[in-house]
Amino acid sequence: MANNEDLLKKIIAHAKEYGFVFQSSEIYDGLSAVYDYAQNGSELKKNIRDYWWKSMVQMHENIVGIDTAIFMHPSIWKASGHVDAFNDPMIDNKDSKKRYRADVLIEDHLAKIEGKIDKEVAKAAKRFGDSFDEKQFKETNPRVLANLEKINGIKNRLYPAMDNNDMDAIKTLIEDVGIVCPMSGSKNWTEVRQFNLMFSTKMGSTAEGANEIFLRPETAQGIFVNYLNVQKTGRMKIPFGIAQTGKAFRNEIVARQFIFRMREFEQMEMQFFVRPGEEMKWYEYWKEQRMEWHKSLGIPAEKFRFHDHDKLAHYANAAADIEFDFPMGFKELEGIHSRTDFDLSAHEEHSGKKLRYHDPELNQSYVPYVVETSIGLDRMFLAILSNSYTEEDLGEGNSRVVMKLPPVLAPYKIAVFPLTKKDGLPDKAREIMDKLKSDYMCFYEEKDAIGKRYRRHDAIGTPYCVTVDHQTLEDNTVTIRERDSMVQERISIDDISGVVRERLVG
Ligand code: GAP
Repeated sequence: MANNEDLLKKIIAHAKEYGFVFQSSEIYDGLSAVYDYAQNGSELKKNIRDYWWKSMVQMHENIVGIDTAIFMHPSIWKASGHVDAFNDPMIDNKDSKKRYRADVLIEDHLAKIEGKIDKEVAKAAKRFGDSFDEKQFKETNPRVLANLEKINGIKNRLYPAMDNNDMDAIKTLIEDVGIVCPMSGSKNWTEVRQFNLMFSTKMGSTAEGANEIFLRPETAQGIFVNYLNVQKTGRMKIPFGIAQTGKAFRNEIVARQFIFRMREFEQMEMQFFVRPGEEMKWYEYWKEQRMEWHKSLGIPAEKFRFHDHDKLAHYANAAADIEFDFPMGFKELEGIHSRTDFDLSAHEEHSGKKLRYHDPELNQSYVPYVVETSIGLDRMFLAILSNSYTEEDLGEGNSRVVMKLPPVLAPYKIAVFPLTKKDGLPDKAREIMDKLKSDYMCFYEEKDAIGKRYRRHDAIGTPYCVTVDHQTLEDNTVTIRERDSMVQERISIDDISGVVRERLVG
């Protein structure tokens, strides 16, 4: 459902109405690009985090998890390159007063040209049917070739300009290709300026003695600076990994599209330490593993694709994104980066401390190379919401909105309802609830007609609703309703736990 801005609006409204995500500081008109997770959202977020942690840490004997501080020594950000290079080029349109990332304006322009090529290919594929040879068509069709030449021409100017911090060249490129402001339609641009994305604050009680420190823009550096502590205390042997989840902060120039690009967000990162020269093998391994992780949640494979980077970050020798088909189209969800020995070597240099590993098999000491997997928890949350949000026409004028969340991630696994508030049914329902709640997040409800209660739990994605009726009092059976099929079955109370568990084992 690409490019469906309406769908994004619906998801935002649903997330608010059903207690998933609220705008931060809403009663003060909100704080831009900062969000709060509500009662159902925080459960869903925790379940995504736990699912990641389980697959990365619990399931890998050679990966351990840590939890490092947000505040770190300011020299760390000098060593990592973030003080000098964690910049985005920004530009303002003088008519609309809107601010943009200059490189994103150019990337969007490139995407438009790529869209034209895709259209040509789709048209030709339709015309030629089974005999269509896409590769040959792209290599020979004059319109495609002209557009490819345009793309290469732009990339050949953009990337060197970005690498050399040449803001004037970026401005000239924007003017030369005729990019207009999407709001005002005008070409009345300011100069392009570099903007560092790190937030800073002061640590220390007196103004004179206070030091400027940064809020971490990635969790990875907490792993790098603890790498040797963990290796030694955990007796880790290469190859091994260190994982961590936690908050990161970036003063994004343009932060929009709900929780896709935030100024305060959470990352789930894993640094995998390997022998120099073996990094490409592990890079390919983790690309594949991470794609399998996404598919293990039951999300269709065609919703994901790899995007290999042409332009590499200052620390990488190979990088790819796993992109997800968000309502705004395919966008980055996760990054897999081969970070070489850049970070550890830089920390050796800046701290003056050796960060080498003694490899007993090779009888050699070296600075390990690192392959990183880095996913935004909030982005994963948005991917899950977008994939799960379903409007269903049930016929005869009835419809429902159902969040078809992977059951393992659902905030509540079971809702327990007494059919009525009378005849001892609530007591029986409470008894069942007490039996289940130490194993599962359960929700008890007795208000409103049963159909309304089902709809409320469809909307928050509860996979099972259990209803206690008069027959329950006679034979200890209940009806259990499955969220997606709406099929109801009569089962024994003792079997509820087993039925639910079966769905949760992915
Ligand atoms: N340690 C490597 C690193 O931070 P990144 O590509 O800048 O790499 C990794 O970020 C992931 O963090 C992204 O794929 C995205 O999911 C998430 N992310 C980055 N910036 C974000 C933002 N402003 N809001 C939400 N998620 C963000």
